[in-house]
Amino acid sequence: METVRKGDYILLYLDSKRSFLVKATDRVFHTHRGYLRLKELIGKPYGLRVKSSLGAEFTVLKPTLKDLVLKRFRRITQIIYPKDVGLILTYTGIGPGFRVAEAGVGSGALTAFLAYYVRPDGRVYGYEVRQDFLKNARRNLAKTGLMDFIELKLKDVREGFDESELDAVVLDLPTPWEVVPRAYEALKNSGVFVSFSPTINQVEKTVEALRRWGFVSVETVECLVRNFKVKTGETRPETVMIGHTGYLVFARKSMLELEV
Ligand SMILES: C[S@@+](CC[C@H](N)C(=O)[O-])C[C@H]1O[C@@H](n2cnc3c(N)ncnc32)[C@H](O)[C@@H]1O
Repeated sequence: METVRKGDYILLYLDSKRSFLVKATDRVFHTHRGYLRLKELIGKPYGLRVKSSLGAEFTVLKPTLKDLVLKRFRRITQIIYPKDVGLILTYTGIGPGFRVAEAGVGSGALTAFLAYYVRPDGRVYGYEVRQDFLKNARRNLAKTGLMDFIELKLKDVREGFDESELDAVVLDLPTPWEVVPRAYEALKNSGVFVSFSPTINQVEKTVEALRRWGFVSVETVECLVRNFKVKTGETRPETVMIGHTGYLVFARKSMLELEV
């Protein structure tokens, strides 16, 4: 049975609206529903339900990467949401062993997910043009324990990627169409290009550039997710949802046939 170790991040789940991600240390954790002595949780199995000083029941859960990114990453840029990360991973097939270049790193949210999935022998090369953002991203990513699979670089990616024969290039920056030629140079044949953009005019310019460079299988999608309120006889979608994040453009690198 997996137990809580000292220094582990743990998710204290109260209800569907409230959960707290804390480190299992000697400190006392205070909430509006009473306090918990965290050191008493060390050595206890995950999944255990414990009572606070005021009798509120918390469940000790092992956090997922999504919990860690959404609750512990300092976000100083817009980040890619898990719903869009899901499409990026499934449409590209990014998985163990992939060599992926990403730009810009921003707060490091997407970098974390990419690194998680390219393990144990893949690598993420993360490019960011702003030193302050890169420093923050490094601090965020250190919390995930995934830094062995990440190389962060301070560079304007319009000057080009340092790598070649990449399996995938993933862009989340304002002018992806300017990076299409650089992505073409860095990708291996049949490699995957992905770009995330919040506006349609960015999508049009990116797709035009991809067509000019001979990319094929160019596909643009948007992912909308609705959460549901489930109560027997009254089940319906939640009133509020994330209405818009951005559009995803996917494409594959092709090369000219030299002989017929
Ligand atoms: C929206 S943020 C990326 C957020 C990131 N995907 C995440 O999930 O945390 C866009 C980032 O692109 C960076 N950026 C913009 N132009 C760039 C360029 N030419 N080369 C590298 N980074 C660039 C910005 O500084 C910014 O940090």
